[in-house]
Amino acid sequence: MPRDLTALDNVYENNLGTLVKLCNSVLPVQYPESFFQELFPKGKNAKKDTFFAQLGYYSEIAVGGVKAKLLPNKKGDVLPQGVYIEILVVLEHYRGKGIGGKLLSYVETECKKHFQHDIYVHVATDNESAINWYIKHGFVNEGNILKDYYKDTTGSPDCYVLKKHIP
Ligand SMILES: CC(C)(COP(=O)(O)OP(=O)(O)OC[C@H]1O[C@@H](n2cnc3c(N)ncnc32)[C@H](O)[C@@H]1OP(=O)(O)O)[C@@H](O)C(=O)NCCC(=O)NCCS
Repeated sequence: MPRDLTALDNVYENNLGTLVKLCNSVLPVQYPESFFQELFPKGKNAKKDTFFAQLGYYSEIAVGGVKAKLLPNKKGDVLPQGVYIEILVVLEHYRGKGIGGKLLSYVETECKKHFQHDIYVHVATDNESAINWYIKHGFVNEGNILKDYYKDTTGSPDCYVLKKHIP
C-alpha cells in the first residue's frame, strides 16, 4: 500500500507566516495580519476566543491550512452556536489529494470535542467549485445570500452560508 504523504500539524507562532502566505495566495480576499495574530493573543486586552488552526502538508511541504472559531452562544448573542470555518485552503497544485478533507475532519473533531453540533462556512457566491466541494462533504446550502460580506476581494462580495450538522 502506498505511504500517505499527507499530514496535518499545529500552527505555531514561528510558522504563522506560512498560513498567512497560503491564505493570501489562494483566496481572492486579503486578510489583515491581525486576523492571523489572534491565534496567539497577547496582552490583557487580547480577545479570549477559541480558535482551531492547522497546516496541511504534502511530503512535508506546507500546502494548505484551516482557521476556525468556536461560536459560543452567550446570552443575548445573535451568532448561532457552533464552529465557524473562517478559511480552509489548499494550494491548487496539491488539491484532490485529501488534504482539504483532512483539514475539515480536524474541524469536525474539534466541534465534537467542544460539544457543538453545527459547522458553518461562508463561501463567495461565485466560488462554485468550493460550494460543490462543501456539499460533497455534507454541507447544506440553504441559499440565503449575505450581500457585501467580503470587502477587500477581487471576487464576488456576496456569499452563501453553508452548514453541516454533526450528530
Ligand atoms: C475546497 C478545497 C479546500 C478542497 O481541498 P482539496 O485538498 O482539494 O480537497 P480533497 O482532496 O480532500 O477533496 C477530495 C474529494 O473532493 C472531491 N472534490 C474535489 N473538488 C471538488 C469540487 N469542486 N466539487 C465536488 N467535489 C470535489 C474529490 O473528487 C474527492 O472526492 P473523493 O474523496 O470521493 O475521491 C480547495 O479546493 C481549495 O483550497 N479551494 C480554494 C479555496 C476556497 O475556495 N476555500 C473555500 C472558502 S473558505
